[in-house]
Amino acid sequence: MAFKHLIALEHVSKEDMVSVLELAKTFKELILRPVKKVPTLKGKTVVNFFFEPSTRTKTSFEIAAKRLSADVLNLAVSTSAVVKGETLLDTINTIEAMQIDMVVIRHGTSGVPEYLAKRIKSSVINAGDGMHEHPTQGLLDMFTMIEKKGKLDGKIVCIAGDVAHSRVARSNIWGLKKMGAKIRVVGPPTLIPKDIDKLGVEVFYDLKAALKDVDIINILRIQLERQKKNLFPTTREYAAFYGINTEKLKYATPDVLVMHPGPMNRGLEISPNVADGPHSVINEQVTNGVAVRMAVLYLMGGGKKDEIIN
Ligand code: CP
Repeated sequence: MAFKHLIALEHVSKEDMVSVLELAKTFKELILRPVKKVPTLKGKTVVNFFFEPSTRTKTSFEIAAKRLSADVLNLAVSTSAVVKGETLLDTINTIEAMQIDMVVIRHGTSGVPEYLAKRIKSSVINAGDGMHEHPTQGLLDMFTMIEKKGKLDGKIVCIAGDVAHSRVARSNIWGLKKMGAKIRVVGPPTLIPKDIDKLGVEVFYDLKAALKDVDIINILRIQLERQKKNLFPTTREYAAFYGINTEKLKYATPDVLVMHPGPMNRGLEISPNVADGPHSVINEQVTNGVAVRMAVLYLMGGGKKDEIIN
């Protein structure tokens, strides 16, 4: 891979994304075996530092690192010296003095992973920064789409819901565009950034029109915690107009793939019937997240693709 840090898919080439996705196929095979562990990152140390809550990303990075035999340190913000006023950079410099190799960081402020990457020796992996990007989510989403649909080139992908606050949407858009997919975004005007069309996406405010001929729908979580004021009248009204249920799914292609990065607001942006229905690959996204994060850690940890286990 031609980069030391993974901050944003905006800056990753198609070739590098394809390298990760190809390697992740090998790791997917590995993690479905009874023995899931290989010694390739033995001696490396990965630090997970999450300033925002996480179930999927944090645990899957930990599992991915452990399956590659790396040592993993989960640094809890609430019990670290950050609460005594230590700066983020002083904290990371302190941990780095213990000879670590990679830092996986999630932060509520956009730009924090890039800030660290410019100042420390270890590799930095962005596990989600503010409303900017969540590159490994973008990669695992594309891995799942290719696994199920064969390719991305020419496929129509609709990203639905709270695009304004979504780092997942931005990583999907950058990644999918480079891979040749046609991208639509849909939601109420208050949740669609005004200049989003400049990223090469088609903008819809009507869900029925947006879903016509769609191959894949990626449903975003409504991020009430990032909304400073009410951006739609009520959650009931949002669910009525933009929530994806079995009726609305009929507007898409018959074999449409339903995705959601999680965590879901069931009954708001997605109905339980759709979340657990035959089109849903939401749990497979989680499995694929481990394989993709193993590939990222492996490549950034200095592994070579042809060294890999059989
Ligand atoms: N998709 C995602 O980032 O989920 P978590 O917040 O649980 O990590």
